[in-house]
Amino acid sequence: MNSSQLINIVDVIRHSFCHLDPRLINHGERVSYILMKMLTDTSYYTKQEKQDIFMLGLLHDIGAYREDEIDSMLSFDMDDPMAHSVFGYLLFQNFSPLPEYADVILYHHHCNAQYYPVPVSNYHRDIARLIYLADRIDIFCVLNDAQELNSFLDTDNYAVFSDSNIRWFRNADEKYHILEHIRTGEYREELTEYIRSQITLSEPQVHDYLMMFIFSVDFRNEYTALHTSYAVHLSEQFADTLHLSSISGRTVQLAAILHNIGKISLSAHVTNVNDYDRYLKELYQNSTLDVTRKILKDAVDPQIIKIIDESFLLLEYWSEDRTVTFTPAPAAEIVALSYLISNILTHSSDFTYHAKLFVFLKKKYQSCHMDDAILLALEKYFQQIMEKTFSSCSSVYRSYHHMMDEKHFLNNILLHYNSKYQ
Ligand SMILES: [Fe+2]
Ligand SMILES: [Fe+2]
Repeated sequence: MNSSQLINIVDVIRHSFCHLDPRLINHGERVSYILMKMLTDTSYYTKQEKQDIFMLGLLHDIGAYREDEIDSMLSFDMDDPMAHSVFGYLLFQNFSPLPEYADVILYHHHCNAQYYPVPVSNYHRDIARLIYLADRIDIFCVLNDAQELNSFLDTDNYAVFSDSNIRWFRNADEKYHILEHIRTGEYREELTEYIRSQITLSEPQVHDYLMMFIFSVDFRNEYTALHTSYAVHLSEQFADTLHLSSISGRTVQLAAILHNIGKISLSAHVTNVNDYDRYLKELYQNSTLDVTRKILKDAVDPQIIKIIDESFLLLEYWSEDRTVTFTPAPAAEIVALSYLISNILTHSSDFTYHAKLFVFLKKKYQSCHMDDAILLALEKYFQQIMEKTFSSCSSVYRSYHHMMDEKHFLNNILLHYNSKYQ
C-alpha cells in the first residue's frame, strides 16, 4: 500500500473473494494474473487498457453469489444460466469507474452470442474472449490435471477461443511459466508487485470500486440493500456537522464503508424480517468481525481497523446496556452511532420519526453511562441530518430497484431465447 493511501482497494477485493465461496477462492486474482502475463509484451493495448483489463479480470465474477450459479460456472456446460454475468454487468454499469466496459462482463461467458439488447463492439468482444479464455484455463486447472490443458484447448468444444488467442497464451506460458507459478503460489508475489507498481487509481475511482463491491453484497436482497448506505451517509453527515477535517472525514467514511465487509461470508438468503434479524445477529458475532479483520489486514491503514474494532465494541456495549468503560475515539463513536441508527432504520419503521429516535439514543447513552458530548453536538442538526440521509438513501434505493428490474428483464430474455432455440 502506498503510504499516501489509506486503502489498497485491489487487495481488499482480493482478500474478500477468499470468503465468498470456497470453490471460488482466488479465482478472480488468478484470472487477472493470467491476463496480466499475456498482456506483458503486447503493444496492442495501452498501459491504461492493460490496467482496465486487469481490473475486469479480477472482478469478472463480481455478480456471482448463489450456490447453484457457482455450480454452473464451475461446469463446462455451455447452456449455463449466466445470471451472474447480468448482475455483474449491472453493477459495472451503475457503479464502477469502468461503465463503458460493462458489456464485457455481460458477455464474458457467451462471447459469441448476443442475446441481450446490449450492443457490443468487436473490440470489447475480443476482451470478453480473452477473459473467458483465462477463466476456463483457471477453472480447468483447478478441476483437472494441468497436463491435460493442452488437449482441452485443442478440442473444438470451445470454438469461442481463436487459435491466435490460444497461441498467445501458450507463448506467454512458455516464457513466464504462468501455470507453474500459479501451482507453486509464486504468482501472488508477482501480482502484489504488479499492483504496487502498475495500478494507479484516483481517489474517486477507489471509492467507486469499493462502493460497487459493497453493493454487490448488499444488493443481493431487498432487506440488506440499504444497510451500508444508511451508515455511510449518516457518518458523512455526522463528520460534516462536527467539522472533522477532510483527512479524518475520509478515514471515518472508509471505516463506515468497510465496517462489516466480513458480511460477504454470510448467506445472502434473506427473504423476510426474521431472516434479516438473524442476518444482523450473525453480522455482529465475532466470526464476521474476524473475517472483516482478515480482509482488511495489510490492505488498509491500521487506524481504520482500530476505528472499526472500537465501533464494534461500542455496539456490543450498547446492545447489552453495559457501562462503557473506555473512552472511544470520536471517529469510532461516529461509526458506531451510524450503524446503530442504520440497523434500527432498516429494521423498524417505528423510528422514522426523528425526535423519537433521538430520545432513544439519549436513553442509550444514559444507560451505558457514556459521555454524550458528541450526541448533544448533533442534537441541533439531527432532523436535518436524518432528512438528508433519507433523501440520499432513497436515491440508492431507486437505483437498486432499477437494477433489479433490468436484471429481471435481461434474465427473462435469455430464458426465452433458450426455450425457443434449444
Ligand atoms: Fe463468470
Ligand atoms: Fe470466472
